Amino acid sequence: MALLDNSTSEIINPDTYFQTHTPSRTLIEDEIRVKEFVNKHQEAGRKIVLVTSGGTTVPLENNTVRFIDNFSAGTRGATSAEYPFIISVIWILIFMHRQFSLQPYSRHYTHSTNCFLDFMELKSDGSIGVNSKYASKMKFVLEKYQEFKKNETLLLLNFVTVTDYLFLLRSVTKIMSVLKENAMYYLAAAVSDFFIPAQKMSQHKIHSDGGLTLTMDQVPKFLKPMVTNWVPGGFIVSFKLETDPALLVDKSRLALMRYGHQIVIANLLTTRKCEVVLITRDSEFQIKLTEDEIAEDKEIESKIIPELVKRHYEWIRNASHTGL
Ligand code: PMT
Repeated sequence: MALLDNSTSEIINPDTYFQTHTPSRTLIEDEIRVKEFVNKHQEAGRKIVLVTSGGTTVPLENNTVRFIDNFSAGTRGATSAEYPFIISVIWILIFMHRQFSLQPYSRHYTHSTNCFLDFMELKSDGSIGVNSKYASKMKFVLEKYQEFKKNETLLLLNFVTVTDYLFLLRSVTKIMSVLKENAMYYLAAAVSDFFIPAQKMSQHKIHSDGGLTLTMDQVPKFLKPMVTNWVPGGFIVSFKLETDPALLVDKSRLALMRYGHQIVIANLLTTRKCEVVLITRDSEFQIKLTEDEIAEDKEIESKIIPELVKRHYEWIRNASHTGL
């Protein structure tokens, strides 16, 4: 029987976590890209939004054969990223996503139940074109995508494990902290709550000669150091996911009080695509798609993002009054 029994489950503090874990090999390179991107847009006086998206994995072995994953395909993050976070034609975006999860614009095609070849058709002259059934939507998406590419206003970064995610999030937010109120942090990734610390993990593939018992430690809550140290005074929006409706709002409010950031968006696993509650220190605001809107394939993010933009502007206005 292969047994991983970490008899004491500890809550590691974030500093210890970073001291005892190793970042991904691409971290230094990613930091350079983020610094260049932030400097360029800061000099032009632009606002930047960080969107995190998709699930993190928890490896069971240092030479990883098996890992624990979660349900998130990155739909929330990738969809949100297509709606104007800033009141301008182009908004500047750092999109930090789980490798191979959905990305803005390409999301309309990459994870489709259609094979990508179904979007194409052979013309009578032998050339290949877009299937006329999809052409007008594809033209719309392509124009938006190319605008971002031409203006170099979208920076993509990826992560796989929860450790990659935490190191990358710390680096990116610290670099972005120079932007002060000209930034928004939109944390839609589904971050693992439990993990096996590197020093307790099996080095090699766990033998499959019996059952497997796992004991996992709690991943340190990174929102606290993020709010206090990495981007003090930043406009931070986090999501709270629950499956029990009776707990959702209370737990979301608790998160807001505990971490001290600006907004928690509460969502239930089963209804997350048509209903959320936006929670601030002194308000609760439900955002819901109507039956008609659902039938028209309207996306709830098209209502969430304008509401956040409004609140970001209000926050900046109030912060300037209070000298924050
Ligand atoms: O990608 P989709 O399939 O579209 O799904 C979207 C979503 C449901 C994943 C998204 O809308 C969402 O709810 N994301 C947050 C999921 C999550 O991590 O929820 P949580 O209740 O486990 O954590 C709440 C908050 O605590 C999160 O904002 C997270 O940033 C924070 N957290 C989590 C883990 C951790 N170790 N430290 C944290 O600070």
